[in-house]
Amino acid sequence: MISTSFSALLAGLVTARYASATSVSDFVTQEQAIALQGVFNNIGANGSLAPGAASGLVIASPSTANPNYYYTWTRDSALTLRMLVDELIFGNSSVQSTIDDYVSAQALLQTVSNPSGSFLPSGLGLGEPKFNVNGTRFDGAWGRPQRDGPALRAIALIEYSNWLLAKGQKDKVSKTLWPIISNDISYVGQYWNSTGFDLWEEVSGSSFFTTQNHYKSLVVASQLAAKIGQNCTSCAEAANALCFLQTYWNGKYFTANINLNNNKQRSGIDANTMLGAISVFDVAASCTHPSLQPCHSRSLASFKVFVDAFRNATLYPINANIAASKGVALGRYPEDIYYNGNPWYLITQGAAEFLYDAVAQWKHQGSISVDSTSLAFFKDLYPSAKAGDKYTQSKTSHKKERSMSQVSARAASDTFQTVVTAATTYADSFVAVAQKYTPSNGSLSEQFHKVSGKPLSAYDLTWSFASFVTMARRRAGHYPAYSWANETVNVPAVCTASSTKGVYAAAGAGSGGCTSSVLFVVNATTYYGENIYLVGNTTDLGAWDLASAQPLSANNYTSTRPEWFVEVQMTGGEYVKYAYVREENCGQASIYETVNRTLHVPACDSSSASSTSAQLATNDKWTGSVGSSGSC
Ligand code: NOJ
Ligand code: NOJ
Repeated sequence: MISTSFSALLAGLVTARYASATSVSDFVTQEQAIALQGVFNNIGANGSLAPGAASGLVIASPSTANPNYYYTWTRDSALTLRMLVDELIFGNSSVQSTIDDYVSAQALLQTVSNPSGSFLPSGLGLGEPKFNVNGTRFDGAWGRPQRDGPALRAIALIEYSNWLLAKGQKDKVSKTLWPIISNDISYVGQYWNSTGFDLWEEVSGSSFFTTQNHYKSLVVASQLAAKIGQNCTSCAEAANALCFLQTYWNGKYFTANINLNNNKQRSGIDANTMLGAISVFDVAASCTHPSLQPCHSRSLASFKVFVDAFRNATLYPINANIAASKGVALGRYPEDIYYNGNPWYLITQGAAEFLYDAVAQWKHQGSISVDSTSLAFFKDLYPSAKAGDKYTQSKTSHKKERSMSQVSARAASDTFQTVVTAATTYADSFVAVAQKYTPSNGSLSEQFHKVSGKPLSAYDLTWSFASFVTMARRRAGHYPAYSWANETVNVPAVCTASSTKGVYAAAGAGSGGCTSSVLFVVNATTYYGENIYLVGNTTDLGAWDLASAQPLSANNYTSTRPEWFVEVQMTGGEYVKYAYVREENCGQASIYETVNRTLHVPACDSSSASSTSAQLATNDKWTGSVGSSGSC
């Protein structure tokens, strides 16, 4: 009996139509379970939709064509893992083994040489956005490096570490987690001020989402380091990153991307800034905290500008005739042309999460302050709002007022409740939009069509599912308990563009012996998308295995001198055979040089294991045939 009705219930769950007949609350309950399962389906080695994915690696989507998202992205994975760590904190202990698999996988992935660079000596490979699902490097042309990845991964691992510490597992944190975190934080401290590609992998410059996560990662790393007695030299860059973060404000909203390398003209209105605020959310932080929380006036102003950009029936026909007080379907940025530009589930759901976060912060503080910056946002919720208003949460509303001042305090507290209720209703109306366009089986793609509302682009997108779960948790009033931004912080009066040289060491490997640094330089004329690697007979040169070869950089490449180079830490005194290899852009066979090169690595002095400049440089010229683009 029981099992029959239970399976009937399950069947109902799977076939439920998310029509408007289902309440938002019922929809959220049903979809939350489907979304969490959807995430597990996309994680190796046992995920049902992730064949071939290594243990602990998260695929972006099972879609292998149009688009092919069958890769593991550092950003998507870290955001997904943050959701899983939250689930662990909320008491779902069954997720822990998956988190541990992720930890082991990332320790290894950090060391994989790739087109962004190698791991040693300076961490460049950590900026690589995506890898093949078996953990090997991806050689195709791509918008790289993307510098948010290491910060997001560090935050995920730090949130897990804090949970472990609370359970008394300091040893595991110090020995297993910290070495991985330390590499990522070294990267952030070294490159936070260098340009890179934004989270949408399109523009190269400085990106708000990236900088905001850089700041958070440096702060939470220094807090963790203090708890476990470790040094975090790179963490000192936090104040500089925080100062830089403020500079994205243009007087009306946070410009998503600045310092652009290739001058693409855009408004800078972008989900980037809303997603950043969600990422740094701390329910106990003040609304004026310079980490720029969801309830910060400037975050609220940016949110309104962003949402209003999509209240445009020409841009998104499905948003026609929706009142200004109601949620609309939201995309990445108004100028988006990817798949002709459409709304995204994770962004529409993200808007709801942003509002639930702000509401939680107002309630935590017991007040809401309106200023001229946030006024337009508040007017949508409460038309008579004025700059300078402060609404305070009632503590005495059920008692009898005895004086006029208590009566007016009561009025202000009613207003507090009015605004909170309006903001919550507004948040729910974004969920209702997602509900309307979620298909009956609960699958969440990347996008839904701006005219028909039909799911579009990659199906079962892990990030769409993860964002649903975090939104549902915030809606239910569940926040990560660990508070990080509740201290008073001063933004430096003058911003300093500095960098701290990182210390990188393979986590979990423990390499001994002393090394000498060799700079390999080769002149090789290449076409756009083609890469050069170095491979040789020793382990530091990949033992003739291309998957472990060293990637060369084209940073010094000019038409008159087509230079490729890489600096490699090599075992002192060894004799090596090596060759350069061309990696083609569309999976054509790699092209090896037709010469056998040899080299004697200089002996090293073990007392100065960390020499900073190369002790030997080669001056090679490509010998062998050249490649041509596969035009894929
Ligand atoms: C793939 C990227 O992942 C996506 O963000 C981008 O919009 C398209 N390429 C087009 O550049
Ligand atoms: C394209 C998105 O723009 C990017 O943010 C994401 O990392 C990849 N797709 C994979 O989901």
